[in-house]
Amino acid sequence: MSEAVLEARGLVTGYDEIPIVRGVDLAIRQGAVTCIIGPNGAGKSTAFKALMGLLRPWEGEILMKARSITHEAAHRRVGRGLAYVPQGRLVFPTMTVLENLEVGAFIFRRQPARIRDGLDRVLTLFPVLAGRRRQLAGTMSGGEQQMLAIGRGLMTSPEVLLLDEPSLGLSPKYVDLVFAKLIELKQAGFTVAMVEQKASRALQISDVGYVLNMGRVAFVGPAAELLANERVKRLYLGEGGEEPGAEMPGGPDDE
Ligand SMILES: Nc1ncnc2c1ncn2[C@@H]1O[C@H](COP(=O)(O)OP(=O)(O)O)[C@@H](O)[C@H]1O
Ligand SMILES: [Mg+2]
Repeated sequence: MSEAVLEARGLVTGYDEIPIVRGVDLAIRQGAVTCIIGPNGAGKSTAFKALMGLLRPWEGEILMKARSITHEAAHRRVGRGLAYVPQGRLVFPTMTVLENLEVGAFIFRRQPARIRDGLDRVLTLFPVLAGRRRQLAGTMSGGEQQMLAIGRGLMTSPEVLLLDEPSLGLSPKYVDLVFAKLIELKQAGFTVAMVEQKASRALQISDVGYVLNMGRVAFVGPAAELLANERVKRLYLGEGGEEPGAEMPGGPDDE
């Protein structure tokens, strides 16, 4: 197996005094697509925020290439090759597509050649953005904004791209496009870790799968094994295209 580029060991964190991630080990391997599934409220987004340095770990360690980054600020982690696309595609609505992409390469603000490389790479991967460089991001469709959010994450050519719910709330056409782009990223050699509600679909394009439930890892293994595991199927993959979370009291937060 390839080495872990990004790792969490015994990670505990939460909000105020309430622990949400309650002792999580995660290993994101070089060149692999790693998928984290689990019901709403399981702590998936919280875990990603901690990996990115947006939430302080209460216990445990975060390592990048075997070096502790547990106490490093988010911008330093960007410098080390981490990129994060938060849930809800938070693009800057009153900035143009080009400006949004340039923000993604902020750490290269004194290296225009690297910004140009980033733009070339992102506009080639997302031709829909190329024709819209001057368009205000807030005037684009949800799917286009998600492409922009992912593109912004790719501007630094990251060693690990963290994507939180990339398909959430998108039309079927854009859900297909997001999954197609994820396959392209993998083929291009990017290391991707994602949280996804479309669990079966995400596992089908992933190498490694994790199920997070109530702040703990309930299952981990090759994605194909999770797809075939009866218990995982019953509890987390749903039937007939249902999204995971459907069995949680109160039902899923569907968007
Ligand atoms: N900023 C916050 N402040 C307080 N509680 C939060 C915050 N964000 C999330 N939570 C709570 O943490 C729990 C896990 O949230 P989250 O990590 O977003 O779950 P998931 O991404 O798995 O759906 C939920 O109970 C949620 O209400
Ligand atoms: Mg979430």
